[in-house]
Amino acid sequence: MKIFPALLLRLLHPIHIYRLWVLQRTRKGVNRVYNDPQLKLYHRLLPGDHLHYGYFDDPHISPVDISLGMIYRAQERYAELLADLVVHPQQRVLDVGCGMGGLLGVLNKRGIEALGLTPDKNQAQHIRKNYPNKLLECKFEDMEVDENAAQFGTVITSESLQYLDLKRALPLINQILVKEGRWIACDYFREGAAAEKSGHYWDYFVRQLEEHGFKIVMQQNITPHILPTIAFAHHWSAHVIIPMIEFGEEKLLVKAPGWHYMFKNFLESMYEKLNKNLETVDPEQFAAKKKYLLMVIERA
Ligand SMILES: C[S@@+](CC[C@H](N)C(=O)[O-])C[C@H]1O[C@@H](n2cnc3c(N)ncnc32)[C@H](O)[C@@H]1O
Repeated sequence: MKIFPALLLRLLHPIHIYRLWVLQRTRKGVNRVYNDPQLKLYHRLLPGDHLHYGYFDDPHISPVDISLGMIYRAQERYAELLADLVVHPQQRVLDVGCGMGGLLGVLNKRGIEALGLTPDKNQAQHIRKNYPNKLLECKFEDMEVDENAAQFGTVITSESLQYLDLKRALPLINQILVKEGRWIACDYFREGAAAEKSGHYWDYFVRQLEEHGFKIVMQQNITPHILPTIAFAHHWSAHVIIPMIEFGEEKLLVKAPGWHYMFKNFLESMYEKLNKNLETVDPEQFAAKKKYLLMVIERA
């Protein structure tokens, strides 16, 4: 049967209408922290086990010249930069929000004992299958404190700090670090009214550090070096994905104008959403409203 008559039949049939109503009413909201479809998609699109923006040595590279292989290498470079800051390699490292385990792999190659922590079940499954590292499967804020007190020479948050509740996470970092321990944090922060709501506000973060007895001992603004990845995402969305969707709509208009009329409102709201998402990967907007920092933080 052709697709549109089949759809119409389904929409009009009382059994299907009832089923639609029941499924919508009983749908369960899964907390994104335990199963993040966006991070899962990034892993399917990118060749390696990293879920961060990467570090391009050449910040002026054009998005049209970037390949997926280059993004992978930029991500490896970013992980190496973080690993270089581990100054107690004989002591254990905790990779908080370890994603798919890319940084664990880099630390393993250097002979550093590293533990991963993630609340996400897909990530946990992937790590158990591919990495020998011990893994804690929970939100960092829910980590068992007593058995982990003063157990880590280094805590790393690689683009995961933005997800943490600072009031709960900072006291925990303080408790699990050894006396001379350090926290390596690499993430972006909001400085103004950013279009996208991710990232802690920088002023708030600094106040929280002070309140919980931490100080920043090294800080490097790496924004220009992560922007090529954002520019790449923007280029592909604006010049490949959206034109392909528009092409599909034009085909629908020619082949099935009635159905195009029926779906007009849906298509309009979809374009609105797509354009809003495009703003979140606009490199100029990112640079104007956010900053991406690599930091070493210690007890004051
Ligand atoms: C953008 S990914 C970065 C992953 C990895 N660190 C990397 O650099 O590839 C953010 C990570 O933080 C994790 N995360 C989110 N909320 C968290 C929480 N409350 N506690 C610990 N990890 C969390 C996500 O599951 C994911 O692993």
